[in-house]
Amino acid sequence: MQPDLVSQVTLSQKTSAKQGPPKGFRNPFIFSLRWKVALSFSILLLLVAGLLFIAFMRYERIFLSLESQKRAHSLANNIVINARNPLLSQDELRLGSLIESVSQNSEVQYAYLVDHRGCILYHSEPERTGKMLPAGIPDPAKGIIQSSIPIEVENIKVGTAVVGLGVDHIDRAMIETATGLILPLGLGAGLGILGVFLLAGIHVNRVKRLEEAVQALGSGDLLVQVKDNSLDEIGRLTRHFNEMVYQLHSARQQNQRNFKETVSALAAAVEAKDAYTRGHCDRVARISVAIGNRLEMDEKQREELELAAILHDVGKIGVKAGIIGKAGPLTESEYIEMQRHPEIGAKILSPLSAYQEVALFVRHHHENYDGSGYPDGLKESEIPQAARIIHLVDAFDAMTTNRPYRTALSKEEALSRIKQGYGKQFDPVPVDVLLELEKEGHIDAISEEVEQLERQ
Ligand SMILES: [Fe+2]
Repeated sequence: MQPDLVSQVTLSQKTSAKQGPPKGFRNPFIFSLRWKVALSFSILLLLVAGLLFIAFMRYERIFLSLESQKRAHSLANNIVINARNPLLSQDELRLGSLIESVSQNSEVQYAYLVDHRGCILYHSEPERTGKMLPAGIPDPAKGIIQSSIPIEVENIKVGTAVVGLGVDHIDRAMIETATGLILPLGLGAGLGILGVFLLAGIHVNRVKRLEEAVQALGSGDLLVQVKDNSLDEIGRLTRHFNEMVYQLHSARQQNQRNFKETVSALAAAVEAKDAYTRGHCDRVARISVAIGNRLEMDEKQREELELAAILHDVGKIGVKAGIIGKAGPLTESEYIEMQRHPEIGAKILSPLSAYQEVALFVRHHHENYDGSGYPDGLKESEIPQAARIIHLVDAFDAMTTNRPYRTALSKEEALSRIKQGYGKQFDPVPVDVLLELEKEGHIDAISEEVEQLERQ
C-alpha cells in the first residue's frame, strides 16, 4: 500500500466558472468604491457648506438691518432732543441746521421735521419744506429704513422727527462679507474634500483587502485570512469570510482524506490481485516524481504524475485472474487480454472529472517512444510526458523485481536494457534523469524507503 504517497495528493481542482472581470483587470478610478464614497461625502460637504454660507448671509443681513434700524432711531431721537426748544421758539435757523447736520451722514437718504398739523417745517430736500402731509407720515419707499419719533412738550405732541436711511451700505457690507468668506470657505471645502478622500481610502482599503482575499480564494487559496478586528459591518463581514474560508479548508481536507482512501482502496485491489506488484506502484510513483522534480514539473503536474504512477496498473483489476500472476509465458490471446489493462485503467479513472489527465497517463503508460507500444501506438511528443516517465520507471522496476515469469535482473542488467531502449522504447530525456538519479544513489534510497514501509 502507498499511504504516504497518497497523502501527498491534494485536490487541485480549481473553480472553473469564475465570475466577474478577468484577473488583473482594474476598474477605472471613477468606478471605484473609494471614488463613489468620497464623491458622495464631498457633495454632502459642499451642500452643508453652501447652506451654512446662505444661513450666515441671511443672519448678517438681518443683523445689519437691525443695526440700521437702531441707527435711524438714534438719528431721529437726536433730532427730537435738539428740536424741542427751536420748535417752541420758532427758531427756523437752528431747525434747519439740525436737519442739515443729520443729513450729512452718508447713509441718510432724507431727514425732516413735521409740526403737529402735518406741515413739513424743514426737509433735507429743500423743495419739500413747507408742504403738507395730509395723510400723516408716509411709509418709506422700498430699500429705505425709516424711523419717525414724535416730539412732545409736556405731553403735548408738537411735531415729528423723521429719518430715512438707504440700504446700499448693507448691500456693500454683505458683498464684503461674502468676498471675505469665499477664500476660507473654499479652503475649508478643499481640505474637507481631501480629508474625505483620505478617510474614504482607510475604509475602502479594508474592503479592498477583503476583495483581494476573495480573489485569492477564487484562485484556490484556502489558507487566505484577512485581519480586521473592528466591530463595524466590514469587520463582521471579514470575520464571516475568515470562518467561511476555514470551513472550506476543512471540507477540502476531508475531501483529500476521502480521496486518499479511494486511491488506497484501488491500489489495494490491484495488489490483492497481483501480489508481485507489492511495493511496485509505490516505487514507480516515488521514482517518477523524483524524475518530474528534476524536469521542473509544476505542483499540479507532479500531483497528476504521482497519482497516475500509483494507479498505472489499476486496469489489471479487469483482467482475468488466471492471466495476472501466471507462472510462465502468456499465450498470444492472454497477452492481448493483458494489453487491455491500460484502457481498462483509464476507463476506471474516467469518472474522476478533475483527473482526466491522470486517466490519459494511465491509458498511455505502455506506449513506446518509437510508436511501437500500445494501446494507440503513439510516439514521441504524442505520448504525454508523464506517461513516458511512468513507462520507463515501470519497466525498470519490473526488471529489477521478481515476476511470476522470471527472476529479477540485476540493477546493472536492467540499466543496460534501459539504455538499449534509449530513443526507441523510452524517451531519452527521463532515461538520462533516471541514470543520473541512479548514479547519485537516489534510486537505492527510494527502494529502501519503500521496503521499510512494506515491513511496517
Ligand atoms: Fe502496466
